[in-house]
Parts: sequence; C-alpha cells; structure tokens
Amino acid sequence: MLLGVNIDHVATLRQARYALLPDSPNAEPSPLRAALDAMAAGADSITIHVRGDRRHMQDRDAVEIRKSCPLPLNLEMGVTTEMTAIALDLKPEFACLVPETREEVTTEGGLDVAGRAVEVTACVKTLQAAGIRVSLFIDPDPEQVRASAATGAEMVELHTGCFANAVGADLEAEIARLTEAARIGHEAGLQVNAGHGINYGNLHLLYAVPHLAELNIGHSIVARAMRVGFETAVREMKALMEGYPSA
Ligand code: PXP
Repeated sequence: MLLGVNIDHVATLRQARYALLPDSPNAEPSPLRAALDAMAAGADSITIHVRGDRRHMQDRDAVEIRKSCPLPLNLEMGVTTEMTAIALDLKPEFACLVPETREEVTTEGGLDVAGRAVEVTACVKTLQAAGIRVSLFIDPDPEQVRASAATGAEMVELHTGCFANAVGADLEAEIARLTEAARIGHEAGLQVNAGHGINYGNLHLLYAVPHLAELNIGHSIVARAMRVGFETAVREMKALMEGYPSA
C-alpha cells in the first residue's frame, strides 16, 4: 500500500502569515521542504491541491515542487478550464479530480461523476492525452464507482470523510460502504485509493477494506509533524500502513 502525502496545510500555515507578502524572505514553512522531507521518510508521492481561491498552495509552489522534488506528483484539481490548463503545463504523474466550491473548509463530498459524466469524461480524456493518469475522488457509492469506470479514468479515490467522523454502528456501516465500493471498483479494473480524514488512530480500521492501493493523507501528518517533525510523522504513518494485508 502506497502513501501519498498531502502537504497543502504546510502552505496553509505559511499563508496565514505571508499571504500578502509572497516575496518575503521570511515566508515559512516551505511546502517544497516538506515534500523533500516526506520523500526522505519514504512517502511514495506528494499531493497538492491548487484551489481556485489559492487559499493554500500557490501556482509557484506547484512549479517549484514539480521541478525540485523527484517523487511522483498528484495534483488535486477542480474540473475547470483554469485547472486543466495548469495540469497540462505542470504535467504531474497523476491528477485527482475533486469537487470544489469556495465556501467549503476542505473538500467536503465526492465528485458527482454520475451527474456530471460528460464534463468529467472530457476532462479525463484531455488529461490522459497529456500522459497524466487520472483519479476521481468519489463517495463510496456503487453508482459513482460505476460511473467513474465509464469515464475511462484509471483510479478512484474513495472519500473516507464519513468513515473518519463515524462512531459505533455508523462506523461499521461506513466500513461496509467502503468495502463494497472497493470491490466494485476493483472488479471494474480501477485502482482503488482512499483519502480524507485518515489519521494515526483510525487507519487500522481500513485494514478491513480490500483492494486499497494508496492512501492520501494530509492533515493528521502535518498536525503530528508539529510534535515530532515531518519526517518522523511520515515514517510513523508508513509504519501503520504496513499492517494492511497484502493482496
Ligand atoms: N484526498 C482528497 C481528494 C482531499 O481533498 C484531501 C483533503 O485535501 C485529502 C485526500 C487529504 O485529507 P486529509 O487532509 O484529511 O488527510
């Protein structure tokens, strides 16, 4: 199982102080430094989300990370012409299409691939024609998984936000939903990834979900890094992932 480290919140912290002073020599912390630390600690890829409102990652971060961090890059992006142009310029190894509205605090639900099939399929094809492998960030819903396979995308990333917030019987139900969605995705030939809200306390519960190839994790690693440093935080997460049953 692979770990994609999402470093958006390193940029969130920098923007909290330096959003209006982008050229300040004091601007810190550095997303590129975090990407390199994650690589040193065994991360398999780096994920960044250049949002329409540029609340954390800036275009120049994306360019700098692409240029100076040799790990595969996963660009999370809204299905927009602006972001498609950025992806075509940047040429990351992977793009993950996500829903995006300005008001949300973070990505709050999966992409409605079933409801936006024509638009999403066109975006998938454009990115693939540039050699970018595409993932669709969807709720663990059979209809969305099947619709994702129909777009020709190589991967889905199952949204684990509800799983992460559930307790008791609801948690069991969320694990069952993830399990069914992962099975359907795998049978349809998709690589099945998962992400959102995964942390050091709940990751082991995902051992029950089959076919997971990659987890994308950000917030909990960045938070943990404040106590133990970025490299150790990534190493600890990788160690937990080793408990995932191999196929
Ligand atoms: N995957 C996707 C598609 C996301 O939008 C996010 C949040 O930016 C993540 C994974 C990582 O979520 P978290 O920061 O909660 O680990």
